[in-house]
Amino acid sequence: MIITVTMNASVDKRYRVDSLEPGTVIRLDSCRNTAGGKGLNVTRVLRQLNCEVLAVGVAAGRNGDFIEEELNALGIRHCFARAKGESRCCVNVVEASSGRQTEFLEPGPTLDPTAIYDFTSRFTMAVESGSIVSLSGSLPQGLPPGFYGRLASMAGGSGARVIVDSSGESLSESLTGSPVLVKPNLEEAGALLGRRLSGLADAAWAATQLMARGAGAVAVSMGADGVVYAGPDGVIRGKPPKITPRNAVGCGDAMVAGFAVGLAEGWDAPRSVRYAVALSAASALCEETGAFRESDLEDMLPRVEMARLS
Ligand SMILES: Nc1ncnc2c1ncn2[C@@H]1O[C@H](COP(=O)(O)OP(=O)(O)OP(=O)(O)O)[C@@H](O)[C@H]1O
Ligand SMILES: [Mg+2]
Repeated sequence: MIITVTMNASVDKRYRVDSLEPGTVIRLDSCRNTAGGKGLNVTRVLRQLNCEVLAVGVAAGRNGDFIEEELNALGIRHCFARAKGESRCCVNVVEASSGRQTEFLEPGPTLDPTAIYDFTSRFTMAVESGSIVSLSGSLPQGLPPGFYGRLASMAGGSGARVIVDSSGESLSESLTGSPVLVKPNLEEAGALLGRRLSGLADAAWAATQLMARGAGAVAVSMGADGVVYAGPDGVIRGKPPKITPRNAVGCGDAMVAGFAVGLAEGWDAPRSVRYAVALSAASALCEETGAFRESDLEDMLPRVEMARLS
């Protein structure tokens, strides 16, 4: 089973407008709310792939009720601790004229010791039956930056393999828990290593640096340029075909789902990279975040260009 962790679950709103004019009133034709947060994006992709998945995390207030109801409606198993306050709303405004996307991310509730204890007990129980754990997204207020490192160590102690997709201190601290894979994008890897990165050579350098700091393997994603993956057997690159993306938000989460499947199935690195790139590119073609069309995945798989960098 794959366990996904969403510490700051959200109600995601997607607004489609012609263009975002500051200082004007903009009326919307429609708005659909979905359960979000990076871990839940990973979860929805895994559910669509018919993987056995359990979503754990923290939710709060009426928005938390909505998030749990949405997961029920999607047939996703979940086990969320409840915090005081209200789960956040995240708004993604898409401009039809340019395709430009602007995101507004609320901070979400501050977790008190009771909520942290409640979550940790649920997590401990969950990892006993989980072979793969994916830790995604930023940490809410009230948690120390070393929290993912702690969760990774706990999961590792139960024999689970851990994937981390985060940034800044929570990513660097997670390396102390020896995750089998971390997936920063190029910007996040650069911020962590204190260097502006661009191109394949920089991505490969960053990936090997993060391996030296404790990650078993590192996938540095580069949007339309695909991914550079470094593992014990060397560095490879997977490049998606040229596409016109409909929604690139959450592509990294689809990529994490792809790598989780590769780990669960015991695939080698090239097969996992091809699959993760194809799945994330298929997700870019889908309007909805954390979703893809099966036909796009089938179409992408043979068209991912693979190359060995070292
Ligand atoms: N425009 C695109 N065309 C084709 N594939 C894309 C495009 N954008 C993203 N992808 C695919 O998705 C993967 C992850 O994208 P990206 O590097 O943007 O992740 P990210 O910044 O972590 O995204 P997010 O955090 O919003 O999920 C890429 O490696 C690539 O395979
Ligand atoms: Mg990301």
